[in-house]
Amino acid sequence: MTDASSAPTLDFDLFSADAMAAPDQYDDLVRETAPAVYLARHGVWAVGRHADVHAVFSDWETFSSASGTGFTNIRKQGNWRQPSLILENDPPEHGKYRRLLSRILSPAVLRKLKADFVATAESIVDAALDRGEVDLVADLAEAFPFAALPDAVGFRKENRRNLLIYSELNFNAMGEKNDLYRAALERATPILDWVVENCRRDAVAPDTLGSAIFDAVDTGEITEEEAGLLVRIFISAGMDTTINGIGFTLEALARHPEAWAQLRADPTRARAAFDEGLRYRAPSPYIGRTTTREVDIGGVRIGAEEKVILFLSAANRDPRQWSDPERFDIERKTSGHLAFGFGIHACVGQMMARLEADVLMSTIASKVARIELAGKPSYQRINWLRGLSSLPVRLERA
Ligand code: HEM
Repeated sequence: MTDASSAPTLDFDLFSADAMAAPDQYDDLVRETAPAVYLARHGVWAVGRHADVHAVFSDWETFSSASGTGFTNIRKQGNWRQPSLILENDPPEHGKYRRLLSRILSPAVLRKLKADFVATAESIVDAALDRGEVDLVADLAEAFPFAALPDAVGFRKENRRNLLIYSELNFNAMGEKNDLYRAALERATPILDWVVENCRRDAVAPDTLGSAIFDAVDTGEITEEEAGLLVRIFISAGMDTTINGIGFTLEALARHPEAWAQLRADPTRARAAFDEGLRYRAPSPYIGRTTTREVDIGGVRIGAEEKVILFLSAANRDPRQWSDPERFDIERKTSGHLAFGFGIHACVGQMMARLEADVLMSTIASKVARIELAGKPSYQRINWLRGLSSLPVRLERA
């Protein structure tokens, strides 16, 4: 059994306004205190060192996803929605949905999307340049994925902001059931039926990622209901994560003129810059697992049926793994960063996210000479996600 009283322990509130305003400080605290730390206020374990996070991701038999990858045990405490077929599932069931989504998001499929993405990115960047002074979040980091991904999935154009309301609830619900969660649930309740309807076969456009999922119903691979749940995952897993990753990377580029100059000199570095942006500030900072047996993490004993929260953001700045981890360096070798997770559940949409970021950021790098900060940033307060909510900037045409 776990003896939490003799374990390395911290007693801060992960979801307090203070902790959310200074996340790097708390990441450092978790990572530097011990390989696994008991968060006494929450009754969960936190793991923040790169090698340990990697080891947990690699051992799905001991660290299960089926009880939820957020903060609470959804099998015991329930959840506001049906579990995700892929994210909140273990082998062997997980494999079937994973194979299907890997096929739907294959490199060949993504290559076909690229031309449309480039046209969308060019019109968004041109419109921002015409205005000169814009919000880096609303007008670039959000505007592009918010057009590109729902079009690729085949969602209807009307009321698309509902997708963001839904996604915000999803990421608040993965944390504690606090005021942020309750407010997000209240906002989203009127649109939950809309989301279900818009993930149905008759709602998604033909020849899209969404319709490809329904094709798998016709071949007998999955049921009609499962198809709707898989379409839903594009909203819950693929929108805000990408928006926030692009937002953080553009912010870092605006703040680091030498990195911006490197990207301007060679816009093909956009993909590498995005990966460094994700290492530097992971938009999806935490992933939860539940132990299926008693286990040892770096000498700390953890019992069965315990929640273990992996601090990806802390691992991505672990000095044991990275030299000069606090430095944003687009020439760094970023392979091994954990912003997309690792192992059997590693992000199945990561090539889509990279394609989106690559297309938008290389377009920006070829059309924009300078991004100058024109105001103070503000940051989102969402339990299980990090991102900017706005950052005024001035753009100078190249
Ligand atoms: C920068 C953008 C993104 C970030 C930071 C991100 C992050 C992650 C992380 C950390 C995981 C691992 C979850 C776990 O181990 O429990 C994951 C899984 C997943 N992501 Fe992403 N993601 C991004 C974009 C996307 C996109 C664009 C899509 C869809 C098009 C997507 C779909 C998924 C799915 C379906 C899973 C579950 C995979 C599985 O359980 O096998 N993600 N993502």
